[in-house]
Amino acid sequence: MPNLFDQFRLDGQVAVVTGAGRGIGAAIARTFAEAGADLVLAARTPEQLEETAEHVRSLGRKAVVIPTDVMKNDQLENLVTMALEQFSTLDILVNNAGGYPPKPALHTTPEEFDRAFHFNVTTAFALTRLCVPHMVANKSGQGSIINISSVAGHKPSSCFAAYGTAKSALSWLTRELAEEFAPRVRVNAIAVGSTRTEALNTVLTPEIEQTMVELTPMGRLGEVQDIALGALYLASPAASYITGDILNINGGMNRLNMEMPRAFD
Ligand SMILES: NC(=O)c1ccc[n+]([C@@H]2O[C@H](COP(=O)([O-])OP(=O)(O)OC[C@H]3O[C@@H](n4cnc5c(N)ncnc54)[C@H](OP(=O)(O)O)[C@@H]3O)[C@@H](O)[C@H]2O)c1
Repeated sequence: MPNLFDQFRLDGQVAVVTGAGRGIGAAIARTFAEAGADLVLAARTPEQLEETAEHVRSLGRKAVVIPTDVMKNDQLENLVTMALEQFSTLDILVNNAGGYPPKPALHTTPEEFDRAFHFNVTTAFALTRLCVPHMVANKSGQGSIINISSVAGHKPSSCFAAYGTAKSALSWLTRELAEEFAPRVRVNAIAVGSTRTEALNTVLTPEIEQTMVELTPMGRLGEVQDIALGALYLASPAASYITGDILNINGGMNRLNMEMPRAFD
């Protein structure tokens, strides 16, 4: 009889994580390593990736650092080629790199809107289609993909036209691909709420933080480990019957927890 907790382990699996140099991506990489996975770490800043890699190695797992700008298709191709050279298999993909600051719609150019969509949706699609053929060719013939979406893609709010629309599309893409790749590759997303990272810090003032905490039923901001534990569950055999799902890790938010100005009085 297998130990209950073995079903939450990733022993012998290889996971690619984008945006793994800091924040949520780094926490997911560290957590997957603790659960037994080897890691392919991608982002633009090699020094930050090396820090994550050191942590992974200190847990006895292998880590390969592949500096990658997810906005560049040739670099995504290089990421997959290099990952396969190192590990010859791919089991898990976490499309985590993404983001876009809140901005009034009338001050958002169509080019900025396109860029937010490309960064949050197209890059995940592009990397997914590069990885899936290798997942189904691995020993188990299976794979798992986790897209890091946002509560902003599910609860409308002023000033989130670009980011919210893009994350909403990422969540929908998750459901589309889950249909198409079942039963071989599971595709799920996490709709992340306000989580303490450098990206969030760029918009946090003490007043904004206080409002966020007050408007979050669980009464605190998220920590990166809250998200990493959800990602571990979705990646692990414990979630083998789950695909096309959006896991909300947001402290119970039923509306966005930022007070944003409307365009008109
Ligand atoms: N924190 C939150 O409150 C929150 C809420 C909802 C959703 N999310 C989502 O969670 C994800 C991670 O956010 P975070 O808060 O952890 O951000 P973060 O702390 O700023 O970390 C972002 C990571 O992505 C990498 N990255 C940025 N641009 C990239 C590019 N073009 N190519 C490859 N890597 C790139 C960064 O490294 P380099 O700059 O070195 O490339 C870094 O490693 C995003 O998709 C974000 O939308 C976050």
